[in-house]
Amino acid sequence: MPKNISKEKSINRAKTTVELVVCAIILGTSVFLGKSCFDRIKVVPSTNKEATKIEDIEIPDASDVVDPNKIVFAATPISTKLKFSGNLILVNNDNQYYSTGNENLVSIMEKNDETGRSSFIAVDYDYTILEQVYEPLAKMVDDWYDIYFNDTLIVYGSYRSNEFQQQLYDQFTDNTSNDGEAPIVARPGFSEHETGYALDFSETAGYDYQGTGDFLWLNQNCHKYGFVIRYAEDKEDITEYRYEPWHFRYVGIPHAKYMTEQNLCLEEYIELLRTSYNYNGEHLKVSDEYGALYEIYFYPSDDAAEFTNVPVPTGVKYDISGNNVDGFIVTVHVNEKTEIGNENLSVTTSPYSFAATTAADSSAETTDSTTETTIAY
Ligand code: DAL
Ligand code: ZN
Repeated sequence: MPKNISKEKSINRAKTTVELVVCAIILGTSVFLGKSCFDRIKVVPSTNKEATKIEDIEIPDASDVVDPNKIVFAATPISTKLKFSGNLILVNNDNQYYSTGNENLVSIMEKNDETGRSSFIAVDYDYTILEQVYEPLAKMVDDWYDIYFNDTLIVYGSYRSNEFQQQLYDQFTDNTSNDGEAPIVARPGFSEHETGYALDFSETAGYDYQGTGDFLWLNQNCHKYGFVIRYAEDKEDITEYRYEPWHFRYVGIPHAKYMTEQNLCLEEYIELLRTSYNYNGEHLKVSDEYGALYEIYFYPSDDAAEFTNVPVPTGVKYDISGNNVDGFIVTVHVNEKTEIGNENLSVTTSPYSFAATTAADSSAETTDSTTETTIAY
């Protein structure tokens, strides 16, 4: 064999060897990479028969997540007869007021003395009003006085005993029978004045309060303090009373605000709550101008039972009132969190059931026979 041929052969053999080695390396690397990849994705058969299957995993439902702001309600027994009491009772020709004789009344003038107020007066020290109504009344008048510096405002009517309402009624019907107008004095037993939630303003310059001039502010802003003008000009057909710009009724801030904004008289508001804002349906949401949020709903009374199980919030303050017809109205003070067991604001404000009360002063409000006046009823 020629020498150069054998050299060429050995070169070729060497080349082939190198190529084989390179191929082997590439193949080996590929197998290694492929294996490790496969190892990473391969499904390891489970030896655990209880292994969680994907469909067993509970995905939390958004509605199950506890919302710290969600109000939890619990039924609480409320004496069914309390449907006849509270700041939202409807007292009119169809709905009598049943006094327990335990209204928690305070003398307006005594309170004025105690609190150093001189922005308004009452006719005398016998003029009383429910304790819970005094502060809103005085605050409203103070704010008005700070604008007008008018010192002629007088409370000319406030709480009335049934006997006194009878006196007024007799006097009114004797003097003005058959004049064809809607009446301005309620039958005894059917007057808001007997509840202690109502008051009449007058003014000492002419004893003719029309809610005009300086006094317009009171009639326009009273809802901010929880009052409504109970007998409005455009609601005579419903209330069955003539327009009485002097007659203010306390219902509480969220209710007064909503009634005023929506132009509802108390008859309409009570009906609306009963028909559209039952506990089991939508609740009425009202926010006041001080930033407080309220949730309001109606719950029917169980008239066959001594107690009605009314759903009320837990850990959040509320107050409750009867509507004097067929149930209760609960007002949740949404922003006012409190300890469990301390929620019911009516415990301290109800004149009837829960708190210590004082006897009603049945001698309150007497007629002033020495002054010629336009009497506000
Ligand atoms: N003036 C109102 C209607 C009353 O007598 O109660
Ligand atoms: Zn009145």
